[in-house]
Amino acid sequence: MSDYVVTDARTLAGDRVDIKIRDGAIAAVGPDVADPGSVPADRHFAADGRLVTPPLVEPHLHLDATGTAGDPRWNQSGTLAEGIDIWADYKEGIDADDIIERATRTVEWYAAHGVTRIRTHADATEPSLTTVKTLCALRDTVADLVDLQVVAFPQDGILTRERNERLFREAIEAGVDVVGAIPHNEHTREDGVASVQLACDLAEEHALPLDLHIDETDDPGSRFTEVLASEAIKRDIGDRTTASHATAMHSYDNAYAAKVVSLLAESGVSVVTNPPDNAVLQGSYDDYPRRRGHTRIDQLQTAGVTVGLGHDSVLDPWYHYGVGDPLDAAFILIHYAHMAGREDVATLWEMLTEANAAVVGADDYGLAAGTEGSLVVYEATDGFDALRRQAPRRLVLRDGEPIAETAPAETTLYRTDESRALDFSY
Ligand code: FE2
Repeated sequence: MSDYVVTDARTLAGDRVDIKIRDGAIAAVGPDVADPGSVPADRHFAADGRLVTPPLVEPHLHLDATGTAGDPRWNQSGTLAEGIDIWADYKEGIDADDIIERATRTVEWYAAHGVTRIRTHADATEPSLTTVKTLCALRDTVADLVDLQVVAFPQDGILTRERNERLFREAIEAGVDVVGAIPHNEHTREDGVASVQLACDLAEEHALPLDLHIDETDDPGSRFTEVLASEAIKRDIGDRTTASHATAMHSYDNAYAAKVVSLLAESGVSVVTNPPDNAVLQGSYDDYPRRRGHTRIDQLQTAGVTVGLGHDSVLDPWYHYGVGDPLDAAFILIHYAHMAGREDVATLWEMLTEANAAVVGADDYGLAAGTEGSLVVYEATDGFDALRRQAPRRLVLRDGEPIAETAPAETTLYRTDESRALDFSY
């Protein structure tokens, strides 16, 4: 493996640095630490002041359903429940080749956008478990682009029918990386609590982390996040446990929300918010005013809870849009969560990078000597500019090797007296 050199890049903190990569790891970061003459021309990228960040991380995705939007029908009501019904019809005829084709395409889109780690959920209530087995096998076939983690995700509930608990256990035995659950989709409050405890039991038994879809509803009576946080405290597993969505927290009264936020902080459980899906799914049963149905990012962060930022769906029955770009999710969050302030820029990037990396348990992560030789250079001057323009990823480097490059689009503006190239920088 040979050296790779990036010169004159701008970090999120605003520092202009060179980055020298040797044997797949960062050897040095700082002003004038790299000599472009020491490497062949195709091993040098002159960033010329463009933004550089560590690689992006997708902490919450559904690769078994990706690319199925509109098949067999579109989600007309916009509800989570209709999405689950449509997916139930689709997965009846699902086969491995179909999943591989759709999932691989989405993984490639992610890689092109600078993502080198993806945590995907796999439906563990699909009776043949083709979903789980195929996504587990996909880990190897996409390993040159991304590290893929597979969550055993019991979409239709674990205790809702007898066979689902058996399938859930089989899915975990099949070699998944993470244990999931969906307590708000169980039939009763009691079954929801039992499903959280069962997921925790199995995670401990198999020494696996947990990532639960939890309280993804506008029902303020949905109170399973407190159960997960409590179990995490008692079992001391908070640092490898994630509460995904937790949108009911939006609708809790403030006194109860304060209790849950405090419990999460004490437990060490991280939260992942998924703005593309929850921006369109939540509030679907409301008249006006229509709730946004978002988890309480600011309160959680103030309390010290790690909050990751996921996309959740790309082209599926729950969210019809998407190109596999975490900056799309961030752009939605800016508007949806009132995070358009200038000081929110740093928070958004912290969520996209360090927080997401913490959720998936990434080690060797960062942009410093000794960390992995992976990074992203953007067609942007700084973090604000990259979010504003959802800037093309000029270079995606993984372990010192380029995995994607994007040339920026060229626009020509025609006016009556002139035509000229137009750019959108400021
Ligand atoms: Fe999800």
